[in-house]
Amino acid sequence: MTWIEDLADRADAVLPDYVAAYYRSNAGDGSCDREGIADWNAFRLRPSVLHDASAQDMTTEVLGTQVAAPVLVAPMAQQVGARPEGEVLTAQGAAKAGTLLGVSTNTGARFDDIAAQGAPWWYQVYVARNREATRLLVERAASAGARALILTVDTTPIGREIPAVDPRNWPAGPRKNRTANLTAAELERFGSDTDMALDLTPDTIGWLAEVSGLPVLCKGVLTARDARRCVDGGAEGIIVSTHGGRRLGNSVTSAYALPEILAEVGSEVEVHVDSGIRGGAQAAVAVALGARAVHVGRPVMWGLAADGAEGVADVLARYQAEFATTLRQMGIGSVRDLRPSDVVVR
Ligand SMILES: Cc1cc2nc3c(=O)[nH]c(=O)nc-3n(C[C@H](O)[C@H](O)[C@H](O)COP(=O)(O)O)c2cc1C
Repeated sequence: MTWIEDLADRADAVLPDYVAAYYRSNAGDGSCDREGIADWNAFRLRPSVLHDASAQDMTTEVLGTQVAAPVLVAPMAQQVGARPEGEVLTAQGAAKAGTLLGVSTNTGARFDDIAAQGAPWWYQVYVARNREATRLLVERAASAGARALILTVDTTPIGREIPAVDPRNWPAGPRKNRTANLTAAELERFGSDTDMALDLTPDTIGWLAEVSGLPVLCKGVLTARDARRCVDGGAEGIIVSTHGGRRLGNSVTSAYALPEILAEVGSEVEVHVDSGIRGGAQAAVAVALGARAVHVGRPVMWGLAADGAEGVADVLARYQAEFATTLRQMGIGSVRDLRPSDVVVR
């Protein structure tokens, strides 16, 4: 059993069954999640010898923000299901680890309280059917200090068709879990039109940039053609993602999609990646291929559930330590020296 599997079991033991099941849930038969994890290990690293790797620099920049290592926290909904403070604790853990977190539209924590923890953060946008609701949220996130917007574009009705684990059916507080940054009067006014819009186009990217004054990354891209459409629409970053296998059960995996997307837009914008990255060695593969950073999802949520802010910090520290060890064993002293030729497909 890996330390992450062990952590997941500890999280399950303290969570209500429906919350634990929601965190683990996947689209379709779950093969995208399983194979998404396995595919990172289909890449093997090619260590090199006789280099001075005595000094190490793991720092990097993501859209101009310096982080301790290229390992960020993915935006995840329903963190208040893990701990009542939700992203406030996740932000504390990220701050301790010297990294940045994504904050989901469906957060039960207030932007100011998240920002007060000192970690840089990006606001993840699910565009609402009523665009006014999204405009208000994006303006509030920007004025609270969000440094970029993550526009999640894989919004075709997402998998997870199991009613029992759908947060809308949780016995406790589902609506509050996702709307802490709209007032009661606004919620009343928007009603079900805060639900996700399904009519996004590349124009949505420019609109969000204009409304917020922030750079926009598109998350959930899996083909070179779509990456091109996002960049032509004004995206300043792409996050290659299968939503942790929660979108389409038998879609291509992130490890499969990353190289073609890098080939298409990697010289123009930052390309990030998530889904199934279960350690610093896999993060090293992604960065060697050309990703600017990886984003970690469920392991952080399990750390939050099991041990609060300390758990989040510990998960990130383990990824960072394994990333540093991997580079040292490869004879590489700096993130900037990782190359695609350091990786081979088995
Ligand atoms: C419980 C849970 C909730 C999530 N909520 C969101 C969300 O609100 N917005 C979003 O863009 N992605 C969401 N994601 C996807 C993550 O941002 C990320 O893409 C995924 O978890 C990465 O895969 P991993 O869990 O294998 O690391 C969620 C993932 C999980 C597990």
